[in-house]
Amino acid sequence: MKLLLKNIATLLQIRSNTTQKVSGADMKELPALQDAWLLVEDDVIHSFGKMSEIPVFIGVETIDCSGKMVLPSWCDSHTHLVYAGNREQEFVDRINGLSYQEIAANGGGIVNSAKELQATSEASLFAQSEKRLQEVIQLGTGAIEIKSGYGLTTQAEIKMLRVAKQLGVKYNITVRTTFLGAHAIPPEYKDNKDGYLDLVCGEMMEKITEENLADYVDIFCEEGYFSVADTNRVLEAGNKHGLIAKTHVNQFTAIGGVAASINHGALSVDHLEILKEEDISALKASDTMPVALPSCSYFLSIPYTPGRQIIDAGLALALATDYNPGSTPSGNMNFVVATACIKMKLSPEEAINAATINGAYAMGLSHTHGSITKGKKANLIITKEIPSYGYLPYAFGSNSIDKVILNGVIV
Ligand code: NIG
Ligand code: FE
Repeated sequence: MKLLLKNIATLLQIRSNTTQKVSGADMKELPALQDAWLLVEDDVIHSFGKMSEIPVFIGVETIDCSGKMVLPSWCDSHTHLVYAGNREQEFVDRINGLSYQEIAANGGGIVNSAKELQATSEASLFAQSEKRLQEVIQLGTGAIEIKSGYGLTTQAEIKMLRVAKQLGVKYNITVRTTFLGAHAIPPEYKDNKDGYLDLVCGEMMEKITEENLADYVDIFCEEGYFSVADTNRVLEAGNKHGLIAKTHVNQFTAIGGVAASINHGALSVDHLEILKEEDISALKASDTMPVALPSCSYFLSIPYTPGRQIIDAGLALALATDYNPGSTPSGNMNFVVATACIKMKLSPEEAINAATINGAYAMGLSHTHGSITKGKKANLIITKEIPSYGYLPYAFGSNSIDKVILNGVIV
């Protein structure tokens, strides 16, 4: 099957297949071709070039992209898309003055979602989650990471990861899965955190790796949740089971989770709303991708990750949604890109790099996703007729997407 995109006003994010991520000042560059064509063959990008040099294609299905931009689909490297129910009541409680931490201390938060998920059948969990996946695919997401962490029992964690895997199969989208058993301490282990971590690092991890349900291991390293010592323990156990670390660190406090994650070879460290000089230094000496989640900052009214400082230090930065029922009930990567520009002072070029190639890196997918490269997955966004790519974050409340192509198929 072939599909030709012709008269593309601007073809964005063209990279060689050796680019794994883009860092520092290089993030200001977004290599592009004006007046271009692109040929999709089966599920990959076959070739592309300038309209003035277009070869003759006979009998090929063609989309006229006059006035439109084409870019690689968003790579959302941090979500909790599989969950049950919602938490609107906590949203209202926060409007009325309670903090996210106060709500959690009163038995709300993550354990609230866990209670609901445990009582939800796998079929219903799948049905609830697939609606969200359908929506984010329409919004241009072409590869996604999905975490467990609302199960908090062996059975319910497995249920979540099975659903995440099945979603990838049904919707023909690349899904990377992360085991986040250490997301919160379940009520039955309230006074026995170590007992819960025995379960996480023992039975849960064993069964999950046996069934090959996870690529990565995660922990919420935060005051009131899990300490740096807990983080070391879980990541070490994860590494022994072949799970690479991708962690929740520095959301509310900087307690040393960044260095601990890096010491365990973390692929990414996510959140980083509170960042110390020593965290920047640790990142500089590593290949770990810092990931910012600006929709979470927006929704919780907490500080934004200092993305400007991170990039100006010469580091790479990725952007992701954090889609979840508590801190970010939105999986819209377009909003993430716009908010990174508006609130974190990233340029459109930096934000698009962060949401494509660097997002792919943060999922271990930069060899197949995140750029317009021959042989990479034909995961593409075709915009509406817009004046420039800067218009995407500028028109932050508009949907500027005309079509999305996933694995070579128009969705
Ligand atoms: O990434 N911070 C930890 N976990 C999620 C939120 C979990 C929740 O509130 O349900 C996050 O923001
Ligand atoms: Fe998260």
